[in-house]
Parts: sequence; structure tokens; C-alpha cells
Amino acid sequence: MDQIREYLSQNKDRFVNELIELLKIPSVSADSAYTQDVLNTAEAVAGALRKAGCDAVEICETKGYPIIYGEKIAGEDLPTILVYGHYDVQPPDPLDLWNSPPFEPVVRKTDLHPEGAIFARGASDDKGQMFMHIKALEFMVKKNLLPCNVKFMIEGEEEVGSVSLADFVKENRGKLANDIILISDTGLIANDVPSVTTGLRGLSYVEVTVTGANRDLHSGLYGGAVANPINVLAKMIASLHDENNHITIPGFYDKVLELSQKERELMAEAPFDLEEYKKSLDIDAVYGEKGYTTNERNAIRPTLDVNGIWGGYTGEGAKTVIAGKAHAKISMRLVPHQDPDEITELFIRHFKSITPQGVRVEINPHHGGEPYVTPIDSIGYKAASRAYETTFGTPSVPHRGGGSIPIVPLFEKELGSKTILMGFGLNSDAIHSPNEHYGIWNFLKGIETIPYFYQFYTELFKSQGS
Ligand code: BES
Ligand code: MN
Ligand code: MN
Repeated sequence: MDQIREYLSQNKDRFVNELIELLKIPSVSADSAYTQDVLNTAEAVAGALRKAGCDAVEICETKGYPIIYGEKIAGEDLPTILVYGHYDVQPPDPLDLWNSPPFEPVVRKTDLHPEGAIFARGASDDKGQMFMHIKALEFMVKKNLLPCNVKFMIEGEEEVGSVSLADFVKENRGKLANDIILISDTGLIANDVPSVTTGLRGLSYVEVTVTGANRDLHSGLYGGAVANPINVLAKMIASLHDENNHITIPGFYDKVLELSQKERELMAEAPFDLEEYKKSLDIDAVYGEKGYTTNERNAIRPTLDVNGIWGGYTGEGAKTVIAGKAHAKISMRLVPHQDPDEITELFIRHFKSITPQGVRVEINPHHGGEPYVTPIDSIGYKAASRAYETTFGTPSVPHRGGGSIPIVPLFEKELGSKTILMGFGLNSDAIHSPNEHYGIWNFLKGIETIPYFYQFYTELFKSQGS
């Protein structure tokens, strides 16, 4: 596998340019205005897999966007790695906060990325990280070094809840049979601290609407005399946390798996500089649940956050009005062993119970997902950890990710295999935000590291069995 470094030095400009071409296609799955672009991206991914040497590449139609499947079978007795990634991206708005257009990728140097980073929507989440796997395969196929079987499954609906993929997995258990699932859709602690992501949070997501009078009202003629849905919604939302920033929904914490003191101490060993953290965000203090550190708050503790809130007049100048309706989108990040459906139910029951007279509340649940934890004594974890150590030159540390990939627990349920999360992004990549970017160093390091995972995993598999 050591030939990878030479292969990279010969091909890195081409790799970056190919990724840039992929990033130019605006594959926004949430917005139907981009439907044709999402479909074009699916074609482009299938083409890239074929070019990399994948056999049997298929564009699998679904009720939603297609799933790209491809495989390269090296031998019946060899283990099979299933690579998952997504080619869809988040909407790019707010557009005016981008320093360059989201679908016109540019390379710029930053303090964290002296070698340059590619700025574009999807650069890190997940086109750039998914593409590393295609290029790593290209290398192994070209140099005749592929040590095991590989299957690719790249979807186009991750950012909207992987609805079609869930059916696809259930209907294609045989085709997708594998020994381990490998995903690069998370991050490293830092470029000098390689880290296998050992957990993902679950998600429960609701949209609430508070309705007052049957129409918008003059805030002078009616103000003070009837409920203002925006005031009421703000008050209801504020009451969902207490003075210690604990969530007040009855039963919310009942099933939360509390980590032992030892596990918390282990977590605290991962390098983290609170001052740097605050500086990078321009904040004078962190904020969160009493009794937990920042890294605990964003990984092993559940949260409740308003993601959007609207209603009434938000245009220029002042309009004196009491809106008839107020809305909010609320996400709850969940940890083992919270159940998303149960949490949604608890939210609905509680939110209804705190509704004051004079308004009506309507709650619509959106897609959710279960939390996930990867065991660190598995051969998959060991192979990933060793691969990072080989190419980064420093031992890797386990690290819980705060984000969610709801399809991962479903993979385990339907396919019976564990997932290894080998991310190469950084928290500062601004995923889902304006100016998303992905370090070229990170992109190339990923391509360098992945073949070692294949090698170590195959060796461990042969010596120990799965
Ligand atoms: N790649 C992210 C998830 C992620 C990022 C996990 C960094 C851990 C570290 C994924 O594309 C994503 O954005 N997931 C959504 C959930 C989905 C249901 C829209 C999320 O976490 O908000
Ligand atoms: Mn992603
Ligand atoms: Mn995402």
C-alpha cells in the first residue's frame, strides 16, 4: 500500500480537479428546483465509479433520488467492505454570506489549511469525503492491490432523511451483504489528532405552529387583549430548558445512558483547548447543560434546539401587527438509549400540556433517527485506528460525533454489520453553513489512509475471523 504516496503525488491535481467538477453540480436534495442537478450528480458518481474500476455499476431508481451501487469482487473467501456516502448536499442559503458562490468551487488558503481548501457546498459534507473512497479504489485497482471485496452504495437523500435508502436496504439484503460498513461523513478532532468517530447522536425533529386569532390584528386595537402567538411561542420554547439548561420535558432523560466516571475521564483525554474553541467562534463564554464539559455537551448529552422560528412582519421598517400564527422548527439530538419516536411523543404531550388558553398548537413530526455507538474492541475499529496511525504518524483516539446519520443504526438492523466512521473533515469546515470548505490536505490524507484500512481489516479478518 505504500505506493499510495507516489500515486498521490502523481495524481493529486487531477483528483482535486475531478472533485471540483463534481462540486459544480448543485445537488440540493431538499429543493425540487434542483431535481435535474441531483440526477446529473448521480450520473457523475456512477461514471466516476466505473472509471475507478468498479464492476457492475448501477443507477438504482427509487421513489426519490437514485442510489448508486457498484462493486469489485476480489475473491469469495475475502471479507467485503461496504462503502456508504451521499452525493446530495444541504441548501446553500443564506447566499449573501458566501465569499464565493457555493457551486463555483475555489481553492483558498486559510490558517488551518495552509495547503489550501476547496470552498463549495458539499466540499466536506459529503462529496469530498465520498470521493476519497472512489479515488482510493482507483489506486488499489490500478496497482492490483485490492485486498478484499468492496461494494459502494452512494445515496442522494441523506440530507432529507434517507427515505428511499431505508427501503432499498430492506429489499437488497443479499446484494448488500458485507462484513463491515465504512463511512467518511464525520470529522477528525484536528489534523494532528486522528480520530475514529465512535458514536453518532440520534434525532427527533418537530415543527410547531401556534395559532391565535383568525387573522392578523392591528397591534394597537387588539394588543394586550388577545394572545400574541409569537409571544406565546417564545415563552413556551423558553420554558423547555430550566436554569441549569436541563430540558424540562418530563421523561426526556429517563433512558439516557449515563457514562461512567472512567469513560468521561477517557473522553477528557482527547486534546481540546477551550480558549481556542471560544476564539474560533467569537464568543466570550460557552453555554450549556450544567455539570458537563463542552465535549460532553456536544456528544454524549441530548439537546433541544430551535432551528428556525418565524411569523409576523419581518420586512423593512415597522409594521404594527399581531400575527395570527407563529412557527418553529425544533430538533432534539438524542443519545443511547433514547428512542426517537418515544421522545417525539414526550415532546408532543408536554408541549400541548403547556399551551395557554387563547391559542391552539399544532405539532408535526419530521424524520428522525436513532443514536449509534461503535464498539472499540472490534477488528473494524482496530483496522481504522491503525490506518490513521500509519498515515498521520500519531495514534488515533476514539471520539463521539455530535451529528446524526440516521441510516447507520438501520444498516445494523437490516444487514447485521457494524459501521466504522472514518471521517477526515474538521468542525471548522462549516458544513451546512455558508463557506463550507474541505482542506486539500484532508482530502489527500483520506485517499492515503483508506487503502490501509482495507489492508489491515483484511489481515485482521483472516487472522481472527469477523
Ligand atoms: N455528515 C453529517 C452528519 C455528521 C457530521 C455527523 C459531522 C457527525 C459529525 C450528515 O450529512 C448530516 O448532516 N446529518 C444530519 C441529519 C439528517 C437527518 C439531516 C444532521 O446531523 O443534522
Ligand atoms: Mn453528511
Ligand atoms: Mn449533512
